Amino acid sequence: MRVGVLASGTGTNLQALIDAQARGELGPARIVVVGVNVAACGALARAEKAGIPTFVRSHAAFASRGEFDEALIEALKEYAVDCLALAGFMRVLGPSVLGAFKQGVINMHPALLPAFPGVHAQRQAFAYGVKLAGCTVHFVDEGVDTGPIIAQTAVPRLDDDSEESLRARILAEEHRLYPAVVRALAEGRVARDGRQVRVTPLSAPPLPTSRLTSFEG
Ligand code: GRF
Repeated sequence: MRVGVLASGTGTNLQALIDAQARGELGPARIVVVGVNVAACGALARAEKAGIPTFVRSHAAFASRGEFDEALIEALKEYAVDCLALAGFMRVLGPSVLGAFKQGVINMHPALLPAFPGVHAQRQAFAYGVKLAGCTVHFVDEGVDTGPIIAQTAVPRLDDDSEESLRARILAEEHRLYPAVVRALAEGRVARDGRQVRVTPLSAPPLPTSRLTSFEG
């Protein structure tokens, strides 16, 4: 599965995908191109360092969102992208982009959706006083963080958490979850039926020790 990544910022989720690929943990997924809309962003530098082809398309250079979207599609199609992974990409994409990739467009969001969509999700969750925060990987639809949920990880908010410490603990889980979902997609373990998405685990759980013991004994 040929993966294109779009990013706008620091790029730590992109880095997690790059590192997982280097460790052989992305299965048959391969990051073939990274596109950014902010030329000075960390994500671009990370992709270049990893030797991944890149492109820059600044939204500000286009007269309309539609033209920006077409420019993205054109750049991504050049690399025959099957699945588009958003990793801190701070623009809303229109239907032409969402329908352009056979394995869809996915996004990492730093909250347990449907709670706290949009920007500053961790800040919103912290200020609200949640006991369980977390992160969500979802298919992207035309809304803001409203698409079908693929996988989530819950992260407890501890009594002595600051907004920053909570954000860091969520981010660490994002870095585990995103590569696992990309791998599952690449391995055909993600089945989608409307809003219902089922991910088949990598392997069947091992037999409980007690059963093995009684069998052997
Ligand atoms: C992450 O928190 C991600 O969940 C959100 O944007 C942030 C991007 O961070 N969509 P990074 O650029 O991957 O470090």
